Amino acid sequence: MKSKVKTVFVCSSCGASFPAWSGQCGSCLEWNTLSEQKSDVVKPSVYTSDGAPKKPVSLLDISIQDDVVMPTTIPEFDRVLGGGLTVGSVNLIGGEPGIGKSTLALQVLQYFSLQNRKVLYVTAEESEKQLYLRANRLGKSGSSLHVYAQTDISAIISVIKEMKPDCVILDSIQVVYHADVSGAPGTMSQVRHCATEFIRTIKENGLTGLIIGHITKDGSIAGPKVLEHLVDVILYFEGERHLNYRLLRCFKNRFAASYEVGLFTMEEAGLVSADVNSSLFLDDVTLSSPGSVIVPVMEGSRVLLVELQALVVHSGYGMGKRTFQGVDTNRATLMIAAMDKVLELKLFTKDIFLNVIGGLKINETCLDLAIIVSIMSSLYMAPLKRKIGVIGEVGLTGEVRAVSHVAQRVKELENMGFDECILPMKTKATFPKGASIKPIYVETVLDVIRELFPSN
Ligand SMILES: Nc1ncnc2c1ncn2[C@@H]1O[C@H](COP(=O)(O)OP(=O)(O)OP(=O)(O)O)[C@@H](O)[C@H]1O
Ligand SMILES: [Mg+2]
Repeated sequence: MKSKVKTVFVCSSCGASFPAWSGQCGSCLEWNTLSEQKSDVVKPSVYTSDGAPKKPVSLLDISIQDDVVMPTTIPEFDRVLGGGLTVGSVNLIGGEPGIGKSTLALQVLQYFSLQNRKVLYVTAEESEKQLYLRANRLGKSGSSLHVYAQTDISAIISVIKEMKPDCVILDSIQVVYHADVSGAPGTMSQVRHCATEFIRTIKENGLTGLIIGHITKDGSIAGPKVLEHLVDVILYFEGERHLNYRLLRCFKNRFAASYEVGLFTMEEAGLVSADVNSSLFLDDVTLSSPGSVIVPVMEGSRVLLVELQALVVHSGYGMGKRTFQGVDTNRATLMIAAMDKVLELKLFTKDIFLNVIGGLKINETCLDLAIIVSIMSSLYMAPLKRKIGVIGEVGLTGEVRAVSHVAQRVKELENMGFDECILPMKTKATFPKGASIKPIYVETVLDVIRELFPSN
């Protein structure tokens, strides 16, 4: 591909580029984010790999290979992908350092190589020796697994074009560079150019690609936002590095449902699909402590029982401090404001800490009622002392609103030996018949407080 070097001004927030500098980015409207960069102009992909111009073709004339999906036989990975890696797709895996991105990628290639598929692991971060040691720890590899330690994207592209492997891993996009583009590896323009070239090569040759990416502090892939549009599948690892389970969440999937999650444990032999038991995130010891509440949340198409903990202490300073982990900050702030108004608690004099155990991030409105119950439980120093689940969205006036998948959530509580469940009154009709769980229907937050903390 021919390129012409010129000066552009690139936004460090969204990656948009402009011919002239301005104080505000015209795309994402952030201030002072434009910086000068020497960049080459990439031609759009109107040429095929042999240089001939592309022409429109009839949809019915497009031929595809028979095995459209390549199962990886890692059950939880296949679940998130919707059956396996789609041939011709480019998949992006992001996650914190040490969470297991390279491990998972290598395990997939090891399996493919045992099936005699030609596969290539491009390692830009680690040496071939390191990879060899890891592969030995993880299990058997076939002779068709090739390793290439390289950081120059042009050399990588040439090798891919020559070798035409069934699957290529690029580990990682932030470490490779394009000689014609200025800036250190990992900068906006380098990541964008390297990714564009890699993806183009994969697509034009009908291969399958897996890009590994670092994430920024706020949890998104480091580099230009446009990278997320270019790839077909985006997966992020979640979880705490010091705990041994990992959660792989799908954010985008052009071939299957994009809300699934996969659960793994990190073992000596690599990432092992977790025996899905929804109590993975529960700890018996803390169930009877004040501030601790169990909520059945939907993660993809399955229910996980998670533990939400609150700690409410008198503030030593004027304004109460708020620290939330794993819950949506806006949602938690709304709930605290609603509690203050409805129950007149003067919570502004208290420091409030909320934490979802196990490093999970829960974005469901179903957590609303649990936030309120856990704060009340900690405030009154009153543990629930009952095997009870709490389900419900809460409105600003304290009314408890219906949530979805009630039957599935109740069934999971039942399976895990729970006796009771607080439920919104409006979900009465959807309560599963014959369930051994005792439903406690509520209409407002006050009903819940009366039920759970009668003496306060
Ligand atoms: N012998 C071992 N037994 C169990 N777990 C191990 C062993 N060796 C390494 N690990 C786990 O593997 C993790 C490293 O995984 P991996 O290198 O795949 O992470 P990564 O996401 O690629 O990180 P990075 O972004 O730094 O490349 C370690 O954090 C550790 O938990
Ligand atoms: Mg790695």
